[in-house]
This record gives sequence, C-alpha cells and structure tokens, in this order.
Amino acid sequence: MAKPILLLTRQLPPAVEARAKRDYDARLRRDDLPFTGAELARAAEGAAGVLCAAGDALDAGTIRLLPDSVRILASFSVGTDHIALDAARARGIAVTNTPDVLTVATAEIAMLLILMCARRAGEGERTLRDRKWTGWAPTQLLGVTLEGKRLGVLGMGRIGRALAGMARGFGMEVHYRNRTRLTPAEEAGAVFHDDDAGFLGAIEVLSMHIPGGADTAGWLDAGRIALLRPGAIVVNTGRGTTVDDAALCAALISGHVRAAGLDVFAGEPAIFEGYHTAPNLTLLPHLGSATTEVRDAMGMRCLDNLDAVLLRGEDPLHRVA
Ligand code: DGY
Repeated sequence: MAKPILLLTRQLPPAVEARAKRDYDARLRRDDLPFTGAELARAAEGAAGVLCAAGDALDAGTIRLLPDSVRILASFSVGTDHIALDAARARGIAVTNTPDVLTVATAEIAMLLILMCARRAGEGERTLRDRKWTGWAPTQLLGVTLEGKRLGVLGMGRIGRALAGMARGFGMEVHYRNRTRLTPAEEAGAVFHDDDAGFLGAIEVLSMHIPGGADTAGWLDAGRIALLRPGAIVVNTGRGTTVDDAALCAALISGHVRAAGLDVFAGEPAIFEGYHTAPNLTLLPHLGSATTEVRDAMGMRCLDNLDAVLLRGEDPLHRVA
C-alpha cells in the first residue's frame, strides 16, 4: 500500500526526518523559511498530514485553503496560537502539540534569564566585548542576590512548576497566579494569589508562562507594571504577545523595572524597536526548547501523533483540536 504523504513545513532534526521518510512519503524542506499561507496550502496538495511548527501561518484563511486530503496538523510546539483551532475543527482536521518534552528546557531558559537579569550578565558580557572593562571595582555592575527574594510565576503549568523547583534551589520563595489553585502537592509550598494586585505587589521577580492569543494579549500593560514593586525583574518565556512592549520599555527606562529578560516576541522575528536600545534588557531568540534532546523528542512526539491518525486510524495522544 502507498505510504501517506506527509508535508514537513520546516527542516527538522535528522532522526525526525529519517523516521518521517521511513514511514511516509515525506516532503522535506531544505530552505527552512516559514511558508506563506498560500505556499503552505499549495505544498500540502495531496498530503494526509502536515508536520508544522511555531511561526507557520496557519490562520483561518490558510486552513480554509488546505486541500481536503489533510486530516491532521501535528505542530512541533507546545503553543498552538499560530493555528486557528476553530477553523481546523470546522474542517474536521485534527491538531496536536508536543507537551511535556520541553518543560525542563524552557524552565532552564527562564531561570537563565532571571539570573542574567539579577546579576547583570548581559551588560557585563557587552562591556568586555566592547573593550570597555577597566578592571574589577567594588561598586561595578552590582546586581541583586536571588536568595530570599520572592519569585512570582504567572501561569503555574508544567513549565511554571519546573521553574519553581529550580528557583527553590536558589533559595527563592515562590508565589503564583493561575486560573485555578493547585493541589498542595503541586504547590509544594508556593503561595497562591487570586488577584493581580496582590500577586504583583508581593513579588520581586515576575516570570511569565501564559499562552498567547486574544485572551492574554498585552497582559503585562502599564497598569499591571505599576503594580510591581519598584526594582522588580520581569522575564517572559511564554509568548511575546502577552507583553505591552512600549509599556515595558518605558518601565526599563524609568527604572521601575530593574531588568527584563525576553525569549519571545510579538511578531517574531521582528522585535519592538525600543528593545534594541532599552537598558538592562536581555534578549534571546526564542531558545526555550532549543536543545538537541528536546527538539528530537518534539519531532518524535509529532510523528507519534501522526502515526496514530494516519497509520493506525486512532485518536492522537496530544490532541488540542
Ligand atoms: C513552543 O513549543 O510553543 C515553543 O515556543 C516553540 O518551540
């Protein structure tokens, strides 16, 4: 029997492409740039499945253009804000994601940014690269110690809880804001807040782990920034759309926010112009899940979901629509 056609919208790790080629009539990418919606729909002609990724333009218009042959979109991501889930549901196309496998790696990037912000590592590195270091000095580049500080985790899902565990190792006290309160075992002593003002006013470091989409757009706006304690640190490894960029820049310039660390941006790969010059800001190019082990595991998870639907006629394990 002919193998089902599978479109891979991006270049993927070798082991993932090898398995895709073994089990499918796989259409691989070599130029590795996201397709436009129309290009993606054309490339999917005759395909039963699409292995897509964050950054692909799978809005409602693109989903309407997909050929009838497409039965599943397996996203190489845990976030699915790049996919119009309702439009996929309306066409009977299953959508899956890759939870769990990137939890620790993404929490590591959040912890890295927290450390870089607290200890001014980005500024220090730039000082050396710019040949401006004049030698050790007692008052040079003083940061803040994390031990004893209160970390506020916004969105206490898998990644937020992994970060909480790491932060406890640094002697931080964990507070969290979440749609629902966790069980005592999941909380592991973290303090739950059921309102923004109480949460933001209690913490010294805010780490954001909420999904993108209309409900969370611009969550960290000027009003909520004003509720933070003067000198707070802000880190975002969730989705860039959750931050009002102009408001965060203004708070960095005024010093109300001591430092910020961002791994995600609205409109990636472009970033808010003010971020190029804002003080005390560490920028990373969406590295949350970027380890060899994790990217292999994400690809295998996509293929597990594709196999369930296309090779065995079963429900996929990680269905989001
Ligand atoms: C995700 O999985 O949603 C990441 O942000 C992209 O790898």
